[in-house]
Amino acid sequence: MIGAIAQRIDEARLWQRHMRMARHGATAAGGVDRQALSAAEFAAWRELIAWARALGLSPFTDEIGNLFLRYQSGDASSPPVLAGSHLDSQPTGGKFDGVYGVLAALEAVQCIIEARTELARPIEIVAWMNEEGSRFAPGMMGSSAFADATAMRSYLDVRDAQGVSVREGLAAAHAAFPDLLSRPLQRPAAAYFEAHIEQGPVLERERRTIGIVTGIQGKQTLRVSVRGEEAHAGTTPRAARKDALQAAVRMIAALDELTRDDTDVTRFTVGRLVVEPNAPSVVPARATFSIDVRHPDSATLARLGEAIAPLCATHALPCAATVERLTDAKSLTFPDSTRNLIANVARALHLPAMEIASAAGHDARYLHAVCPTGMIFVPCKGGVSHSEAESATAGDLAAGARVLAEVLVRSASA
Ligand code: GLV
Ligand code: MN
Ligand code: MN
Repeated sequence: MIGAIAQRIDEARLWQRHMRMARHGATAAGGVDRQALSAAEFAAWRELIAWARALGLSPFTDEIGNLFLRYQSGDASSPPVLAGSHLDSQPTGGKFDGVYGVLAALEAVQCIIEARTELARPIEIVAWMNEEGSRFAPGMMGSSAFADATAMRSYLDVRDAQGVSVREGLAAAHAAFPDLLSRPLQRPAAAYFEAHIEQGPVLERERRTIGIVTGIQGKQTLRVSVRGEEAHAGTTPRAARKDALQAAVRMIAALDELTRDDTDVTRFTVGRLVVEPNAPSVVPARATFSIDVRHPDSATLARLGEAIAPLCATHALPCAATVERLTDAKSLTFPDSTRNLIANVARALHLPAMEIASAAGHDARYLHAVCPTGMIFVPCKGGVSHSEAESATAGDLAAGARVLAEVLVRSASA
């Protein structure tokens, strides 16, 4: 019967756990700054592991610092059903982006355990390493390396703004959790489900509690490094300057024009601009900026992506620019099997639901390449996310967890 596990979901417990997790990396404005492999994330790991151990789950990690909590049910040799999301946040992030998918999975598994439900295979709750890509770029390092271990090689030497590498961050994780078992990457999975706040306005506007996610729009991320020359701000005439910031400003304006479309579907963001030496009276010698460009049509995204490097080269002069592509992720559609399962469960639980495409990126993108994958969205206030103002209701979070719980039972019973 659909609903036996769902009715056990404890809305207050799920909410309290969100509030407890939000203390790790809490910002003064009520948000969260919890960077990948930081002390704040390790504190969140510690609390999550304690909750998991109390339920009899077995925590372990892997070479890229994903955290798994295994519920050993059914045939131990069968590939597990995975459910989770991420614990890292943007620097001015909220209390729900990522954390919700992990805590909803924990709540679901707790209810499955307490109901003594017989399953055919294990369930593993997972917190993927560095989904956001704000400390180390690109994002989704943990899930992409889980899907393709060769991706790991290019990640280890990536450094944050302070010069700390992913390799050093992983060593810090091992030092903080010396007893945590480490298992190999690329283990088989039977299925993956991720619950997440929508991060957009559609569900709230349409008054639906559950979003059955149809797919994820494509995204490219790039880094542009502009090299000019330091010079004195008072004595150096315009003709003699190689001002890296002015060149970056010309490039960004040209890219903004390139990505303008009448339908306002293309998403173009320069979220980071680093100027060196960043001194008021020195002509900037170096400017580095990020590009995040997204479009649901893969051909359009590819065309935009191809146009970026030549456009930057044109506007760089008299400076020089290097353009690196960090992510090239095409649009994807989740399979009918997982979408139908989520839709059927939502219907049986009498929750108002609709199909919705994800404009934001998620770890589910990479799991989609290795096993049947599905996503469940719940509304967030005003569609606001990647913001300290991010907000969701306890009732909506619990509703998504109810759907997830029933989906996990069905998926792990086969
Ligand atoms: C994920 O956080 C994204 O930027 O879409
Ligand atoms: Mn997220
Ligand atoms: Mn995010």
